[in-house]
Amino acid sequence: MCGIVGYTGKREAVGLLMDGLRCLEYRGYDSAGVSFFEEGRLETVKAKGRISNLEARLSGQEHCSHCGIAHTRWATHGAPSDTNSHPHTAKHLSLVHNGIIENYAQLRRELEEQGAVFVSETDTEVAARLIDSLYEGDPMEAIIRALKRLRGAFAFGIVFRDYPDRVYAVRNASPLIAARGEGESFIASDIPAILPYTKQYYILESGEMAVLTPDAIQFFDWEGHPVQKELLTSTLTVQQAEKGGYDHFMLKEIHEQPQALRDTLSPRLADGLPDFSSDGLAPDFFRGVSHIHIAACGSASYAGQVGRWAIERLARIPVTVEIASEFRYQDPILAPGDLVIVISQSGETADSLAALRLAKERGVPTLAIVNVAGSSIAREADFVLYTHAGPEIAVATTKGYSVQVGILYLIALRAALEREILPREACAGLVSRLQEALSLLPQALELEKDCSRAAQSLRDVSSMFYIGRGQDHSLSLEGALKLKEISYIQCEAYAAGELKHGTISLITQGTPVVALLTESELAAKTVSNIQEVKARGAMVIAVCLPGISLPEGLCDILITLPPLPELFAPLGAIIPLQFLAYHTACLKGCDVDKPRNLAKSVTVE
Ligand code: G6P
Repeated sequence: MCGIVGYTGKREAVGLLMDGLRCLEYRGYDSAGVSFFEEGRLETVKAKGRISNLEARLSGQEHCSHCGIAHTRWATHGAPSDTNSHPHTAKHLSLVHNGIIENYAQLRRELEEQGAVFVSETDTEVAARLIDSLYEGDPMEAIIRALKRLRGAFAFGIVFRDYPDRVYAVRNASPLIAARGEGESFIASDIPAILPYTKQYYILESGEMAVLTPDAIQFFDWEGHPVQKELLTSTLTVQQAEKGGYDHFMLKEIHEQPQALRDTLSPRLADGLPDFSSDGLAPDFFRGVSHIHIAACGSASYAGQVGRWAIERLARIPVTVEIASEFRYQDPILAPGDLVIVISQSGETADSLAALRLAKERGVPTLAIVNVAGSSIAREADFVLYTHAGPEIAVATTKGYSVQVGILYLIALRAALEREILPREACAGLVSRLQEALSLLPQALELEKDCSRAAQSLRDVSSMFYIGRGQDHSLSLEGALKLKEISYIQCEAYAAGELKHGTISLITQGTPVVALLTESELAAKTVSNIQEVKARGAMVIAVCLPGISLPEGLCDILITLPPLPELFAPLGAIIPLQFLAYHTACLKGCDVDKPRNLAKSVTVE
């Protein structure tokens, strides 16, 4: 949510900062801006809308800058506009911000009383003018004094007119890294922005700040005391953060799912059984767990819903899945023996992080399922199981979701084994079934053509439904979210049996209903529900396992899945739902990788 890049060093800074912004555009694309030193002057250029608008404003100018900061915005305070864009400038400085200054209104009043004139509606300008008002020639001192007044979550990149080769960085909650190359230093909200130049980076912690020059990065706490930090090396590659011949990152990431799942699950299998010892989990970690609370946002919470079915069925541990933003404010009942699992692709989602902190405060053990190494949730949880999906760039998650479901299956199997509900042989048998499901994913990917044909019938609709029972209902939540977020079609996921209790009134002639059938035990009931919507004129697209037979003429379009084992069918069944959303969005001309109003990493509450 908002992306920051900063640079000082031997290369031309404006081009480098623009490239960095492109890598961070997934964090928000309401506006973009850059401040840079050229011939001793501090220049600022910004533009509402995509980075390409900023590019257009910068085009035709040759730059010879070596230091600057840049920003891509996901608007919180103040509508997307040129003036509300970052960087925000004041007499002595220019500043970019990711986060929210919670006491901005009070600070703004105080600064206005002292004569400050504000030009934007943002909370960020308050931080810029506050630091500016405290500046007496020493940037560190001004920043430290300002930090004592600022409340909220923020990561700042700041340049001061008097110091044209320095970038200052501050972190409180919102993520920020600092990186070193030869004769150059960087800051960024995320690693892909620095990957073409260096793999060596530091994670700024909350309560730390950094001063960057071309030759060094110095770290301090907010009292100004030096801090020693560990230099880390990223294992990501530039290629992983590129489209690799696909039209969109989303399409590439859908196709990467079989590999991502293998990379995530294989290291956790020993002698054909699930084994989390290399993640630091004791052999009886799940044995005494009496209740699991899963807290997550968006698709991660829907992965949790699928996981709940598996854990409850296999390990007989009650599982509740809570939306993280609700969990933290509902005074959750957490008892001894409980385990809180926080699921997050980015590891930075503010509400999920807050849920994790609440669980820790209450003394309940916490286990994080996270994709991004070194992220806040990964570092703060008592235990972490990393998913190995690689970088996910498309805002709508695909492989990030699948690997979360995959690891929840392993948790279910491991817990069942530890609790002696499943004997070793039975558990090993189910692990083989899980591997069989993985081996069938390439066949599920071959359904793309069928899905793109089916998408033709969705391009002009304004509302539709997904229905299913049991794990299919959990799966339909994710299918419907995918379609909503990238194609902007109003779409509701409904438990198939519940539709008749009100919502069926919305079904009229031609309303599309996607029906999921991956559980043979429940199929007959779902078929009845399909008949009910069909009788009211629905256009039915059924996504069905081959072993489940449907009455002749029941559906208008049939998408037959490969013969996936039922228990793990969601891993394959999600693929056509992703394709359906993807191709519908493409047909409608939507910006698939950067849907309107969204950001991938939501670091505000
Ligand atoms: C955003 C993304 C979703 C994602 C959710 C949770 O809303 O657009 O795709 O599921 O955040 O993100 P996380 O990184 O915590 O999994």
